[in-house]
Amino acid sequence: MSTEDPTAPLRLYLLRTANADDLDQLAGLERAVFPTVWPPTNFAREIKKSGGTVLVVAVRSEAGEPGRVERGASLVERVIGGIRTLAAPGGAGRPRRDRAAGWVVVWFVAGEAHIASIGVAESDRRRGVGELLVMGAVEAAAANACDELTLEVRKSNEAAQALYHKYGFREVGERKGYYVDDSEDALILTTPDIREPEYATLLADLASDHTRRWEKVGIRFERS
Ligand SMILES: CC(C)(COP(=O)(O)OP(=O)(O)OC[C@H]1O[C@@H](n2cnc3c(N)ncnc32)[C@H](O)[C@@H]1OP(=O)(O)O)[C@@H](O)C(=O)NCCC(=O)NCCS
Repeated sequence: MSTEDPTAPLRLYLLRTANADDLDQLAGLERAVFPTVWPPTNFAREIKKSGGTVLVVAVRSEAGEPGRVERGASLVERVIGGIRTLAAPGGAGRPRRDRAAGWVVVWFVAGEAHIASIGVAESDRRRGVGELLVMGAVEAAAANACDELTLEVRKSNEAAQALYHKYGFREVGERKGYYVDDSEDALILTTPDIREPEYATLLADLASDHTRRWEKVGIRFERS
């Protein structure tokens, strides 16, 4: 028997390219996720850069917010939700501002994509947002003629390493004392060639598992 609550709200996470309206939220989110990061990411520069992209995952709707989408809601209920959103303070006549739940900064250099920064708000972790960001980074890499992705990760960061290993990243080296705040060593991780059919199969399997798994608990992911 299913333990799902049929009236539980759906949470929608939308993956999209970041824009100038996201800058304040991205800076705040980075400070919350990496309190000691220095220098902070210059998101204004990153979103304009031709050799890279910034992707953001925005929370489109959640419990307690105007316009939330109830599981199984009829079309009429959805329309009413939309009208309530417009009628909410600050909502009239302009779209409601999404809350940023996560981001990834990717650089494209000489056929290789580098994940320069990635993070998810603490309250949104363990809900598949990190995976969505990695999938978005891989797709962006492929679209920019890159055949592999690389990144550095703290030796102690087991959560992030598990995420990267799931997506086929493997350790190819170390950078001693890489992190300026505490001199921790970094591991260098790299994917296999993402244009190979084996990697495409891995990604397709992970993407369909991801959708199925989170749909069961009322979390949906979209891309724009
Ligand atoms: C690492 C991080 C981005 C993961 O984001 P997330 O949204 O929680 O990740 P997901 O829910 O998509 O999890 C995907 C996979 O990551 C791994 N993972 C995530 N959190 C984990 C944890 N706390 N412990 C172990 N594995 C973890 C698992 O392999 C998980 O797959 P599973 O659910 O099948 O076990 C997030 O923890 C974060 O922002 N951490 C702080 C910033 C950071 O470390 N960034 C990376 C710097 S290199």
